[in-house]
Amino acid sequence: MTSKPVDKLTSAEAAKELDRLAREIAQHDRRYHADDAPTISDAEYDALRLRNAAIEDRFALLVRPDSPSHRIGARASEKFTKVIHARPMLSLDNAFSDEEVGEFLGRVRRFLGLKEDEEIAVTAEPKIDGLSASLRYEKGVLVQGATRGDGQEGEDITPNLRTISDIPLRLKGKPPAVLEVRGEVYMTHKAFEALNKRQAKDGKPVYANPRNSAAGSVRQLDPSITASRTLNFFAYTWGEISEMPSRTQWGMLEKFRDLGFAVNPLVKRCETLDQILKFYRDIESKRAKLGYDIDGVVYKVDRLDLQERLGFVSRSPRWAIAHKFPAEQAETVLEDIEIQVGRTGKLAPVARLKPVTVGGVVVRNATLHNEDEIARLDARIGDTVVIQRAGDVIPQILKVLVDKRPRGSKPYKFPDKCPVCGSHAVREVDEKTGKQDVDRRCTGGLICDAQTVERLKYFVARDGFDIEGLGGTMIELFHDKGLLKEPADIFALTEKPEKVSKVLAEHRAALSEERRAAEGKEPVKTKAKKEDREDKVVENLTAAIEHRRTIPLDRLINALGIRHVGETTARLIARQYRTLAAFLKGMKAENAREELESLEGIGGIVAEAICDFFDEKHNVKALDRLLAWLDVTAMAAPAKSSPVSGKTVVFTGTLEKMTRQEAKARAEALGAKVSGSVSVKTDIVVAGPGAGSKLAEAKKHNVEVLDEDSWLKLIAG
Ligand code: IVH
Repeated sequence: MTSKPVDKLTSAEAAKELDRLAREIAQHDRRYHADDAPTISDAEYDALRLRNAAIEDRFALLVRPDSPSHRIGARASEKFTKVIHARPMLSLDNAFSDEEVGEFLGRVRRFLGLKEDEEIAVTAEPKIDGLSASLRYEKGVLVQGATRGDGQEGEDITPNLRTISDIPLRLKGKPPAVLEVRGEVYMTHKAFEALNKRQAKDGKPVYANPRNSAAGSVRQLDPSITASRTLNFFAYTWGEISEMPSRTQWGMLEKFRDLGFAVNPLVKRCETLDQILKFYRDIESKRAKLGYDIDGVVYKVDRLDLQERLGFVSRSPRWAIAHKFPAEQAETVLEDIEIQVGRTGKLAPVARLKPVTVGGVVVRNATLHNEDEIARLDARIGDTVVIQRAGDVIPQILKVLVDKRPRGSKPYKFPDKCPVCGSHAVREVDEKTGKQDVDRRCTGGLICDAQTVERLKYFVARDGFDIEGLGGTMIELFHDKGLLKEPADIFALTEKPEKVSKVLAEHRAALSEERRAAEGKEPVKTKAKKEDREDKVVENLTAAIEHRRTIPLDRLINALGIRHVGETTARLIARQYRTLAAFLKGMKAENAREELESLEGIGGIVAEAICDFFDEKHNVKALDRLLAWLDVTAMAAPAKSSPVSGKTVVFTGTLEKMTRQEAKARAEALGAKVSGSVSVKTDIVVAGPGAGSKLAEAKKHNVEVLDEDSWLKLIAG
């Protein structure tokens, strides 16, 4: 397989590769379906299709009639049935230093209102580097096994998981009637090496690391392939459970062992930060000899009642953290520094590196973060640098090896103009703190083409409008040709098919000229003629755009590209307002900021960014123009109702049983809206000792007032 990055391919190379990929993928499909004798792994096959799709996205007009993307690959991820997790499968926040672990414990204490020196017992568990799976047992019998997927929805891989000997098909002892056990499927170093030896002997591709090979092995359509590979499983948490067999994480792990699961033998209960850090160092020193990969240690608050009170933020529990091991490092050369302008105008320096393998992955780029970072490192083009890569995080440059610096190199000068639109690029100064922002931003705003294009790309991205066939290249092309400036223009494309066809035809002619030039041929000066294929592309594109005129509120909010508002925050807001009308009304209301801030998971910065967005007239106008095209669907009501769901609650006075933060988080977890001020819309005021004006307001508006105990009784159901 050619390893040239897709964005470096000339159109001639792209055409050649698409041809090769079409033939190669068809051959693998045949071997897989007709001959039942695949010669490459799923991962390898997926990689071929992904590359094909990436090239097609960049060179839309080179898409072949026999393109593999016209056929749904039976091996694509559609192959397994989807499973909605009864309880979401969460991820973990990371800590990279001892201090960050200390801060984690501090946060837990503050949230629970504990004293600074009060100990919190945690379980410390090795963080297994495999893939997580959820196993559902009913009356002690394994009925379903699923991958994590996106945390909400995974894939049903029951037959494959059944082949893993660490996974009991029937539980021992007395299991709860419904029990979902979750843990990590992994491959030992020994099994990994044996598998790769076998693969190599059979002329099949080898896996890069044990985690990939475990993932590839459980995602086989044919369970006998999974069975032929040695996989293991450690149980460490649970999903739905009909009755709790223990009140601690430690007790749960013991229970899992009794039921017949493998639980990691190194887990330990720690009472102090010292013990925790000692455990970490101990595991770190054993790491190389364990026989399987771990990438850190996980700490979980031991008491489950405390876990419940702590709840979670976004997708990670407040009661757990992953203390990661230092990342892998390598030496390479910094060949260039490229400045990319993002959708918010941020000038992001990207290091172009001489390709180097770090922990089994080829790294070509690294982030340089911002200008201060470049200055701190004194990174210069031509320098030899040490880079590090941790998990899926973008690689970073750790330091420059000054001894190896070529003679005559000059310090890097960060541009103070936007490389795209030429506007001044400035570092804003925070009015309150007087501090300079770390990022330099282009001040071009609406006139900056880079920002406009990035905003449009973000708008059509996967978590936004996800318009099939409208990838980054087409956005750039249409923007170049004056067809696109703002989101509403995308929908207006459906009304000018002729124009779109023409632009596409011209683009194809330009590409083929480029190809002729690359092949050293004379240019042919023919006028671009529209062909049937352009009409077909436009027809498909129009259909795809029309299809997205109906859009759920959360996707719309995400697609707006408001600073600090991503997929999770957008969903949170959408769930709160439910309908477009309510959302718009909320954003126009005087207390918009306060209302936003009262939502769990939304802080001051995010609330301010949203309000800033709606304060800009041109944003509101562009949104209005967009909405004229759309039918925005409302969000479903939260599944579970509680005595306080949908109610607006105000806490005032001193709370004695919990901190304000916890009270708010719990009320919101139960579907209530927590507000900072009492109004006619308030349903309940929870008043502790010392309550003042808010209590008076409540009486004035005839709002129900509860003391803390009655409130706790109410929410206990
Ligand atoms: S607990 C509610 N415990 O790490 C918390 N996760 O970065 C859910 N992992 O998706 C996870 N070892 O795949 C937990 N002892 C352990 C773990 C562990 C490995 C993985 C798991 C999870 C990921 C989060």
